[in-house]
Amino acid sequence: CGIVGYIGTKTATEVLIDGLERLEYRGYDSAGIATVLEGTVHCTRAKGKLYNLREKLEREVNPSQMGIGHTRWATHGKPEEHNAHPHRDSSKRVAVVQNGIIENHQELREELIEKGCEFLSETDTEVIPHLIAQYLPETVDYDGLLEAVQKAVHRLNGSFAIAVICADYPDEIIVARHQAPLIIGFGQGEFFCASDVTAVVPHTHAVLSLENGEIARLTALGVEVYDFDLKRLRKLPRTLDWNIATVEKQGFRHFMLKEIYEQPSVVRSCLETYLDPSWNIENGEEKSPIALGLAAELCDNVDYIQIVACGTSWNASVVGKYLLEQLAGIPTMVQYASEFRYSPAPMLANTLTVGVTQSGETADTLAALEMEKQRRMGLEFPYDARILGITNRPESTLAHMVDRIINTQAGIEIGVAATKSFTAQLMGFYFLALELAYRRKRLSLEKFESLIKGLRELPNQIELILSQQEKQIEELAHEFIETQDFIFLGRGVNFPIALEGALKLKEISYIHAEGYPAGEMKHGPIALLDAKVPVVAIAMPGEVHDKVLSNAQEAKARDARLIGVTSVDDNEARSTFDDLLFVPHVDEILSPIIAVIPLQLLAYHIAARRGLDVDQPRNLAKSVTVE
Ligand code: G6P
Repeated sequence: CGIVGYIGTKTATEVLIDGLERLEYRGYDSAGIATVLEGTVHCTRAKGKLYNLREKLEREVNPSQMGIGHTRWATHGKPEEHNAHPHRDSSKRVAVVQNGIIENHQELREELIEKGCEFLSETDTEVIPHLIAQYLPETVDYDGLLEAVQKAVHRLNGSFAIAVICADYPDEIIVARHQAPLIIGFGQGEFFCASDVTAVVPHTHAVLSLENGEIARLTALGVEVYDFDLKRLRKLPRTLDWNIATVEKQGFRHFMLKEIYEQPSVVRSCLETYLDPSWNIENGEEKSPIALGLAAELCDNVDYIQIVACGTSWNASVVGKYLLEQLAGIPTMVQYASEFRYSPAPMLANTLTVGVTQSGETADTLAALEMEKQRRMGLEFPYDARILGITNRPESTLAHMVDRIINTQAGIEIGVAATKSFTAQLMGFYFLALELAYRRKRLSLEKFESLIKGLRELPNQIELILSQQEKQIEELAHEFIETQDFIFLGRGVNFPIALEGALKLKEISYIHAEGYPAGEMKHGPIALLDAKVPVVAIAMPGEVHDKVLSNAQEAKARDARLIGVTSVDDNEARSTFDDLLFVPHVDEILSPIIAVIPLQLLAYHIAARRGLDVDQPRNLAKSVTVE
């Protein structure tokens, strides 16, 4: 979901719809805008894509210079117009947009219905305008709306970011935040609020992130920030280091393809940031080759690592587990953040907790980390909370709540299906695993030297795949537009790449796909195989190469069409696979970064050929700020 708000001297509906377009990438299924004009709230909403809303707005003349807008991703209630935000109270004088979930909405709804409020939607949000309306003073006074919103937020349980306007207070927008992101943008005589900085970057780079438990009043003259008890807080905006090019397509047909092509430069930027260029085998005993700058309290005496993440970030974390165990020798557990919340691993000593999230805002991941923080609160070493974040969004909520982050240098990602943020997270894990291996003296200096050399070659190797293989992959993809099921197989460090290949394909092409450890295929998925189910096997040279080939043979014997991702061009590969996706040769432990590229391209071209909305697949959202 996305929130935008504007107050200033421009026509608000235009600024708002433009802002909502910039938030489109987050995923939504309905949208709406409300403004105050001549003493009344004007509210326009539409189901489906933003052009439906735009079309409706074009039929009206609305010169209002303030308003709020929202794109909604359905949680409570279907994606219908009556459930779209903004929601209003019965007198239609208060309008509210919200991100998050109001957990006690049912009891509030009953209380409000008893008082005569009429509800028109199935959403949890609708209780908020009704509540605010109850608390508004009879006659308008200067702080009337601010105080009414403050009283209302005290009644809400759950997580929320809200923006509120009121017909009787045409010169202000009130916003509040509790565990859902909200930022305020400072322009010249105009102010913005949004759930994500992308909505405001064309207008201003001066941004203030509200913290949990803060409420603010925006007028055309300035911004006042308060805590939930209305104590005034002094806060200053910071300047975003922001390149507008990241939020534009620049000639690519889709953001996803552009982001796939950005991977060489993202990996390069990681290498520049996190490898110490002066390190070599002669001075190797004295300093680490890795320049993460992690404090000893965070990463010395680590006996155990637990990683929490969701979606693609979870897949990256499974590669991370392999690296941390195999390179640094530290037992590592990866848990879905949504599972960790309700069945956390037992509390062990000397534990490093790592939260991995591309958006830095995923509600489950943040809540899992917060829970870990709480349960270790006040405990002394070795049971104290040590929390590291891995993200490409250094301004996100995650970055504020953890001890340290590794900024993976990928910048913002717009395509809902993660690509460059994934490879960047993998880079983050290589650096972390190598740093911990160095501190624990787990690898020889020669091994460091060769791994670092291998890492440095990755950007050119990815470029090579993009320039030499894309055409072939595109042609191959066209043969699968009617396919209904796919199986992806990998082993060892490439098992999670099989998961990621399958996830990419199902997310954007809606083809059912499963990723499996190659050796497990015979215990289940083999029953699905026939000539209609292609099998993609990741067969990179290394310890498990021959094993993967023989697992692939088992599939071939069931008539499956076999596609191989490999750097080995020999008779065996040619006779085993029906189609070969060649990639450059790399050390097995570095091969996930190389193997995932053809799988991203395959998923992309199948979906694009099927004519689907690659950047905004149905039902998915980029930033899932609800549980
Ligand atoms: C959503 C996105 C996925 C992403 C997942 C986790 O489902 O569509 O692409 O992998 O959230 O998001 P995070 O921001 O925590 O990495």
